[in-house]
Amino acid sequence: MVSILVLHGPNLNLLGKREPGVYGSVTLEEINQSLYQEADSLGFALVASQSNHEGVLVDLIQDAMGKHSGILINPGAYTHTSVAIRDAIAGVNLPTVEVHLSNIHKREEFRHHSYIAPVAIGQICGFGADSYRLGLQALVHYLRQNM
Ligand code: DQA
Repeated sequence: MVSILVLHGPNLNLLGKREPGVYGSVTLEEINQSLYQEADSLGFALVASQSNHEGVLVDLIQDAMGKHSGILINPGAYTHTSVAIRDAIAGVNLPTVEVHLSNIHKREEFRHHSYIAPVAIGQICGFGADSYRLGLQALVHYLRQNM
């Protein structure tokens, strides 16, 4: 079965408790459950991981080679800082969709730039927890057309 890797970056383990006015009340566990269900109904396998550490995320992206056909990633704050995560995505050359719960373009200026966007197929942001589901659907659509 074709498999997708879902990666959640720093502080996303706090979803539900963390700035609920910005990120909503849904927990990471609930987001992952809905992604597992959605992937299942689309006929794809899915593995989800979260890390607060940049190097661990780089390792997980590298490990995806040969195991997964695409990556759905919310890099959290590393979106705006990490050349290493960007280079890992470019290096493994796996189709990647970038997602964010909040609309990063209407928040603080420092969130407007993404190091990840230029190496992603596309970016979905601003739909709360639904950004993940929409991102998964977009990735599956892309994989079906390009595999
Ligand atoms: C975020 C947006 C980032 O700017 C922020 O650092 C996060 C979460 C989002 O999902 O909206 O940690 O990626």
